[in-house]
Formats: sequence, C-alpha cells, structure tokens
Amino acid sequence: MNVDDVDSITVLGAGNMGHGIAEVAALAGYDVVLRDIEDEFVQQGYDKIEWSLNKLAEKDRLSQDDADAALARVSTAVDLGEAVADADVVIEAVPEKMAIKKEVYAELEEYAPDHAVFATNTSSLSITELSEVTERPERFCGMHFFNPPVRMDLVEVISGAHTADETLDLVEDLAESMGKTPVRVRKDSPGFIVNRILVPLMNEAAWIVHAGDATMAEVDATTKYDMGLPMGSFELADYVGIDVGYHVLEYMHEVLGDAYEPCPLLSEKVEEGDLGQKTGAGFYDYEDGAGAEIP
Ligand code: 3HC
Repeated sequence: MNVDDVDSITVLGAGNMGHGIAEVAALAGYDVVLRDIEDEFVQQGYDKIEWSLNKLAEKDRLSQDDADAALARVSTAVDLGEAVADADVVIEAVPEKMAIKKEVYAELEEYAPDHAVFATNTSSLSITELSEVTERPERFCGMHFFNPPVRMDLVEVISGAHTADETLDLVEDLAESMGKTPVRVRKDSPGFIVNRILVPLMNEAAWIVHAGDATMAEVDATTKYDMGLPMGSFELADYVGIDVGYHVLEYMHEVLGDAYEPCPLLSEKVEEGDLGQKTGAGFYDYEDGAGAEIP
C-alpha cells in the first residue's frame, strides 16, 4: 500500500492529541473516524475539532468552506469494530499507559482490516513492545504529533524493531500529505528525540521551583523571553497536560534511570487532578480564562 491508496483513517482516542490528529487528517482530505470509549468523550473531541476549524477560518488560516468540508469528513464512533471497518490506517492516541495501549491493540487486531497500518502517537513508550501485541509488527510504527497538531509542523515517525521500511515510507508520505515535516527516528528509545529533550526541561523547571531556587513565573519568564521558546515550561506542561509529561517521565525514569526522576511538584498535581488547561487548573489557573501571568 502507498499513500495514494489511503482513503480512510481511524483515530483512536478523542482527547487533546486524538481530536487534533483527526482534524489534521480531515483537512488533508481523508475520511476520518474519531473513536473513543464513551459517547461523551467522542462528542467533546468532535466539538473541539469544530471549534478549532472555525477558529482557523476566523483567523483566515483557511476558508470557512474548507473548514466545513473538513468537518463533514469526520464521523464518530464508540464501537471499535464499526470504527475501523474501513480503515486503511489506524492512528492510536489513547492514554499514555503501556497496559491501556496493549489492551487496545489486542482488541484492534480482532477488528481491523488485514491491510491496515497501525501508527501509535505514543510520546515515549516502546514501539517494539506495542507492536508485538499485534499480528502485524512490520506494519506498525510510531507517528508522534505535537500539540496542537493543527499548528505544529513536526511529526516523529519512529521505527520499532520489526517495522518494515515500506511502513515508514508510507507513514512519512502520510505526514507530508497532511502538510507536516516527518523526521524518521530509527531507534526506539524512551521519549524518542523530542520528549527526551523537552520533558526533562519541564522536569528540571519543576525541580528548580521545588528547591525554592526560583518561582514558577520567574522560570517561565526566562524560558519564554530569554531562551526564545514560545511558552514557559510550566505553561507548556499545562498546555500538553501535566499527566502526559509525568507519564513520559515515569517511563523514562524506569527505563533510563535516576536522571529522569519526576519532581514531586508534577506528581502532586497529577494526584490532585490538576492536569493543566484541560481540567481548568494546573500550575496556573484557567477557570477565568486568564491563563498564565508572566511578568
Ligand atoms: N486550533 C485553532 N486555533 C487555536 C488552537 C487550535 N488547536 N489552539 C490555539 N488556537 C488559537 C487561540 O485560541 C488563539 O486565538 P485568539 O487569538 O483568538 O485568542 C490563537 O490560536 C493564538 O494563535 P497565535 O498564532 O496568535 O498564537 P501563538 O503564536 O502563541 O501560537 C502556539 C500558539 C502555536 C500554540 C504556540 O504558543 C506554540 O508553539 N506553543 C508551543 C507548543 C509546543 O511546544 N508544542 C509541543 C508540545 S510537546 C508535545 O506535544 C509532545 C507530547 O508528546 C508531550
């Protein structure tokens, strides 16, 4: 199969990443099925796609006609069999937990068409280990988007130990067809390339505050204004989800060692359920829509 044979893409998981990936795929002209385990979750994801497309149109990043056409290409499902019946490619963006993802792949293998390629949007977990749950490890790879997918150009295309070159070529072509710039990651190591750099940055920022060496606002101000990054570390953690960064760190800590020990500031937020923008509070408060205040 090559990219011209891809008509239908199913995205599993309608959260922050899943809905954004579905949006990008629909904008590229693919028929998209967005699937989550409950109606409420799928509907929330669909509503976010609609909001984002309208926002892009409002900002003249695309025409309202193109926004409407993209939305019309998105359908929703809860039943997994129904969701993947016609899928040429399945992009999985369910929670960043090995056990959950393995469960999803075992079930997916029962329903997905034989020819379908599986691409995981995991932020850190072993592609090889996940692929081995399926009967198609050679047609399995990482396809790691960045938040918000509709605005971020990069896609890491990660090879597992069993991934065929044809699969990597196809997924790279697919990313390009979505207007993205794929970077092939040949080694399946925890966090791949971007999160191996980015998540320790967030963690170190948390350790600095934890030690009382600087305030959160000071750290974010230096990141944003001095280092030239678009968001402060704490703003970014709130934006991607503190739980997402924390789970990546937990895994890197387990596999790569103590240098990646998650700061308690992160675990406390996760335990409290203050996960960032998506829950209305994280390191900063979003209830009033104010967001972070950077000096
Ligand atoms: N769709 C449409 N519009 C959106 C949007 C979306 N998904 N998200 C935000 N917007 C809107 C905002 O509502 C805002 O609208 P408003 O002006 O009417 O309030 C507008 O876009 C802001 O756009 P601007 O271009 O003016 O803003 P910025 O120049 O600040 O760009 C940004 C926003 C692209 C998010 C920028 O801040 C950025 O690049 N941030 C860093 C993001 C990043 O690093 N992502 C990677 C995270 S790591 C990751 O995802 C990996 C994972 O595995 C952990």
